[in-house]
Amino acid sequence: MIILLTGGCGFIGSAVIRHLMNKTKHSIINIDCMTYAASVESTAKFLKDSRYKHEQTNINDLNSLKKIFQKYSPDAVMHLAAESHVDRSIDGPGAFIETNIIGTYNLLEASREYWSNLEHPQKDNFKFHHISTDEVFGHLELNESPFNKNTPYNPRSPYSASKASSDHLVRAWRDTYGLPTFITNTTNNYGPWHFPEKLIPLITLNAIHGKELPVYGDGANIRDWLFVEDHAEALVKAIEYGEPGDTYTIGARQPRTNLQVVEAICDILDEIQPTPEGTRRQLIRYVADRPGHDFRYEIDPTYAEQKLGWKAKHNFEAGIRKTIQWYLDNRMWWQKILDQRYAGQRLGGKNNVR
Ligand code: DAU
Repeated sequence: MIILLTGGCGFIGSAVIRHLMNKTKHSIINIDCMTYAASVESTAKFLKDSRYKHEQTNINDLNSLKKIFQKYSPDAVMHLAAESHVDRSIDGPGAFIETNIIGTYNLLEASREYWSNLEHPQKDNFKFHHISTDEVFGHLELNESPFNKNTPYNPRSPYSASKASSDHLVRAWRDTYGLPTFITNTTNNYGPWHFPEKLIPLITLNAIHGKELPVYGDGANIRDWLFVEDHAEALVKAIEYGEPGDTYTIGARQPRTNLQVVEAICDILDEIQPTPEGTRRQLIRYVADRPGHDFRYEIDPTYAEQKLGWKAKHNFEAGIRKTIQWYLDNRMWWQKILDQRYAGQRLGGKNNVR
């Protein structure tokens, strides 16, 4: 299969490319315009492989998208390109509207034009896979059941509202034009190559440097943590076996409070790299909360597990250990980011300065 994949230099996209290149025979056209969070190193080793091509194009450039479809004749689309950081969406929602909503619209239109002109059987087998988030469902109280594919939408941040909009567009293009689309909604990912603005890489790097560890609010918010390589495997199963019109909610059944996550990072680093100052838990600081902070996300992955024949392999303890070791072994990558692109400052509301 020739897969046109957007956002392949991002955290999850690059994990999907590594999985496709290392574990399958599919070919990949990676459309990535290289925003601040993209990392060319995460897929660089495939640049000389004839199964992999990188087109540095913005998904809002409709003419270029159309040319890429004609040039490569893909069998499927995996759409991962997105602005994804909730705190940045609070500071500047415009980029989220542009990329997540307008960009998805452009990709749908380019796909529709290309697919309409395909011949059988390529036309019958074509799939458009939209990769989305569980944040479109809003948030849960402690006593509520985890999200599943029938949970009503209730996005609460500019980021999740933009992803919810893109999900609606993707479904509308199927219902209206017959474009064979389906959606996966996934819970929090973590692992190698994660840009250090998100909780786990930010805390890991601060803890390595002996810097303060910012915990929003009281640290009781809950996230359900999925190791990115397990997610990549699920997404590849989905493009191979997913049914147009369906929705798959993907997770690992590993909910933890933010405080549990931060303490786990401290304890593992203390074990691997003890410091004379004592436990890194002393560095934890409770800081002003994120505006509109979603309390709890949790996914029920049962349906996706049954339909896709997939199950997450890592529990949180195994995944976080691998992740921390990866950051310790890959200083060259993240040091350049800290020096040139993002030094770990607080994002998400000018009133929330630490
Ligand atoms: O549920 C999936 C979503 O998970 C994805 O769609 C998003 O793209 C992804 O960013 C993530 O959203 P979160 O807002 O949950 O991730 P983040 O890493 O920003 O924050 C995780 C939790 O940690 C959240 O409750 C806020 C808190 N937090 C975050 C940072 C950056 C802190 O307490 N301190 C921090 O410094």
